[in-house]
Amino acid sequence: MAIKKAIHDFYKMKENGEKVTWLTSYDFPTAQFAEAAGLDMILVGDSLGMCVYGYKGTVPVTMDQCIVHCDAVRRGAPETFIVGDMPFMSYQTSDIDAVTNAGRFLKEADVDAIKLEGGTRVASRIKSIVEAGIVVIGHIGLTPQSSGALGGHKAQGRTASDAAMVVEDALAVQKAGAHMLLVEAIPPEVAQYIADTLTIPVFSIGAGKECDGQLLIVSDLIGQFQAFTPKFVKKYCDVASIITDAMKAYCADVREGKFPEDKHCYHMIKGEKEKFLKQMKR
Ligand code: KIV
Repeated sequence: MAIKKAIHDFYKMKENGEKVTWLTSYDFPTAQFAEAAGLDMILVGDSLGMCVYGYKGTVPVTMDQCIVHCDAVRRGAPETFIVGDMPFMSYQTSDIDAVTNAGRFLKEADVDAIKLEGGTRVASRIKSIVEAGIVVIGHIGLTPQSSGALGGHKAQGRTASDAAMVVEDALAVQKAGAHMLLVEAIPPEVAQYIADTLTIPVFSIGAGKECDGQLLIVSDLIGQFQAFTPKFVKKYCDVASIITDAMKAYCADVREGKFPEDKHCYHMIKGEKEKFLKQMKR
C-alpha cells in the first residue's frame, strides 16, 4: 500500500524535478479509484457545484456542501493527501471567518490542506490560516469565484503588464506563508517563470507543463461533464457514452423481456413452492 504523502514530499519532488499528480474528486467511489490509480493529491474542488449539483458556477456552493463531499472523499482515499476548497464567502469576509472555516475542513472532514483563491488581496487570510497551523495552497490566475470581476472564464496574464501582476500575486501568496500554489489558465511562459522563481511547489491547471505538477477536474478527464470543455482539458475516456449506452441497453432488455434472467432471481427453497400453492388454495 502507498504511504500517504505530506508537504515535505512535494518539496522534495520539486527539488528532484518529479511531477506531482493531482485530480479533483467529489465522492467516495471516485476517491477510491484515484487512490488505486496512485494520485499524489486529491482536490475536493468547489467545482462540485457544476460537476455534481448542476449549478452554472461555483458561487452558490456552501461550506456544508464542501464538508460533506470532503468527508466522503476522505473515506474513499484514506492514504491520499486531500485538499478542501474554500467556497465563495467562506473567507472573503474576514481573517477570523477564514480561519474558522479552514478549521472546519480539518475538524469535520480530516483534510490535509485547504485551497483558497486570490493573490495580494487575500494575503492576510493566508497568513492567518497558516498561523493557525493549517497547510494552505494559494490559487491565482483565473480564479472562478471572481470570474465576473475578471470579465468571464478567460486566460490571465497574456500581456506583459498582466503577467507582471500575476507574478506579483504569486510572490504575495508565497510571502504570506502559503505552502504550495496553483496557477490556472495563464501562459506557460509565465507559469514557468513563477515555478522557477518560487521556492514552494507550483501546480498548473491550464498553465503548461513546466510547473511542478498538474491538476485536472476528474469530470473533464473522464468525459462526464457536458456543459463545456476548457481548452486545457485532455479527455482520457468518454464515460458519458459508456453510461448512456449501458442505460439504453438496460431499457431495451426490460422492454424485450430479456432482463431479469433466471440467474438474477431468488427462487423458493426446494419443495416450498408446492406447499405455498397448496396453502393458497385453502
Ligand atoms: O474547484 C476546483 O476544482 C478548482 C479548480 C478549477 C482549480 O478550484
